[in-house]
Amino acid sequence: MAPSEVSIGKLDEFPDGGLTAVEAAGRKLIIARTGDQVCAAINRCPHLGLSLTKGPGGLKYADGVVQCAWHNSTFEVCSGQNLDWVGGFAGKSIPKWSRGVLALGRKAKGLDTIPVWVRDGEVVLEIGD
Ligand code: FES
Repeated sequence: MAPSEVSIGKLDEFPDGGLTAVEAAGRKLIIARTGDQVCAAINRCPHLGLSLTKGPGGLKYADGVVQCAWHNSTFEVCSGQNLDWVGGFAGKSIPKWSRGVLALGRKAKGLDTIPVWVRDGEVVLEIGD
């Protein structure tokens, strides 16, 4: 099936400098906005597949970087790049030696990003199958 475009609302509905969790076309996504630039990714942490924004650590986002609400992995939303992998629990750090245990053998991986742009003031995503 060909990718389809989905409008998820007006640019102004997304806080400038913030991260918003949305659902569109049956997928849970995160939308990061900086001025007129928007970035989107699947709201699923590549560590254990949990929500990046709902969990014991809560939504943590600053300067384009989201921290997983579970085990503190950090990701640059626009590129999806992983910056730090399984650094603790619920926003609290753990010693470096214990990170491997908490990682449960999962190797560091980035987010799945989604093509997104602003057209006539609307935020439009391209969602594939
Ligand atoms: S589920 Fe995100 S770091 Fe573990």
